[in-house]
Amino acid sequence: MAQREQWGTRLGFILAAVGSAIGLGNIWRFPYMAFDNGGGAFLIPYFFALITAGIPIIIMEFGLGHRFKGSAPMTFAKAAKKWEWLGWWQVFVSFVISVYYVVVIGWALNYTLMSFNLGWGSDPSGFFFGEFLALSSGALTLGGIVWPIFFASLVIWFIVWLVLYTGVRKGIEVANKIFMPILFVLLLIMLGRAVTLDGAVEGLQWLFRPDFGAIMDYTVWTNAYGQIFFTLSICFAIMITYSSYLPEKSDINNNGMMTAFINCGFSLLAGIMVFGVLGYMAGEQGVPIKEVVDSGVGLAFVTIPKAINLLPASEFFGFLFFLSLVCAGLSSMISISEACCSGLMDKFGWGRQKTATGLVVVGFLASLVFMTNGGLFVLDIVDHFINNFGIVLAGLVEVILISWFFNLSSLKDHINRISDFRVGGWWTFCLKVVTPIVLGYMAIANLIGDITSAYGDYPMTALVLFGWCVVLLVIVVGFFAQAVKSSWESHD
Ligand code: PHE
Repeated sequence: MAQREQWGTRLGFILAAVGSAIGLGNIWRFPYMAFDNGGGAFLIPYFFALITAGIPIIIMEFGLGHRFKGSAPMTFAKAAKKWEWLGWWQVFVSFVISVYYVVVIGWALNYTLMSFNLGWGSDPSGFFFGEFLALSSGALTLGGIVWPIFFASLVIWFIVWLVLYTGVRKGIEVANKIFMPILFVLLLIMLGRAVTLDGAVEGLQWLFRPDFGAIMDYTVWTNAYGQIFFTLSICFAIMITYSSYLPEKSDINNNGMMTAFINCGFSLLAGIMVFGVLGYMAGEQGVPIKEVVDSGVGLAFVTIPKAINLLPASEFFGFLFFLSLVCAGLSSMISISEACCSGLMDKFGWGRQKTATGLVVVGFLASLVFMTNGGLFVLDIVDHFINNFGIVLAGLVEVILISWFFNLSSLKDHINRISDFRVGGWWTFCLKVVTPIVLGYMAIANLIGDITSAYGDYPMTALVLFGWCVVLLVIVVGFFAQAVKSSWESHD
């Protein structure tokens, strides 16, 4: 078998892992989550989740990828032959995420270009939902393709294809060495501007004002764990794949810690930037901050454009903000797609070029549905279900299988042997006990929640079709994929 590709440098690997971790989730999801879940008090469950689940799992995944040198399906198959489906499950969850994630980056690309003349006008909300997305009446009315979104998503898919086609060292590593420094510089400029605005302090007080009552609420804890999984790209087949390209001598524990801390540091800074600007906007309009904050896609594509309109040099800051979304999104998108590409290459022994091309064509076709007039509704449903069940359940199964039914201490010895500092009892305890309990609880709570009340008032048909069916399909297809003969079997 051909030699597995490898990163050129340690920095290249870290930038790629950080590039995957820092994504749309850090710039609009984190600030909103923190605000909505008790402000400063959210940081307590957030860091608790980081220490008990985020860091132990990222180290575990880096260790698995490094030891078994395979994409997620191959890694789990090597851990135990009948676990291959778990890898496929994660790969398919990643694929589903990639087909709508790309469209959101496409929106950001449109907005980057529009920022030159503040194309969203004086009513960003009406513009976004009405003119730009041209929303239909509901999830079951797809309407037609919205062309500006189509072309922007096509450009993003093209870049992803080019990067995957070129390979790990010359493609993925180089792309991250370009996008990450740009992203850090963009953030620092925006941060400098944001904190010097009048009213920024009020915004930050809102973000960090601890509401200790909130941490008694279990949903704040499940939100914090959910955010950590999403933001660190763990249990998505991604980190296993990226670490499978590490050279023999690699400091696994340090790499894991660094990725986690750089990512969470970035989130905090992005939160400060966003809330500084919102504080300024609230001050300008003479209304309380609470009234200017929006959730989800609304925060990035409605609230921020409104705030940008009020800033001096609006065009310039609009451009910086949306360009930062594109850079952050693209590097994550590349990682999600590589997790799929690598899985297929390992399984079928296909070449990189052919696999990348096939994957991007299929991905592009699947993402068409999100480029229609009904796209945002479908996106919202798919996102909710795949996050609540795909990630939480696949994460739960992964942690239980690896920590209870696999020789975890041999993995610990493997990573400690090559790492600078060692992981010990706390690592094992978090993986064996804390994380399974929390994730198990989340899985049950989510299931009860979605069964007892229909998500977001969508029609049942839409929820079954785009929600439950997708969630089930990714599991079932995983089992079928396992049944197909793998190319690695003939080499072992
Ligand atoms: N971790 C990245 C983010 O926060 C990207 C990502 C999201 C990766 C979801 C996988 C799944 O946006």
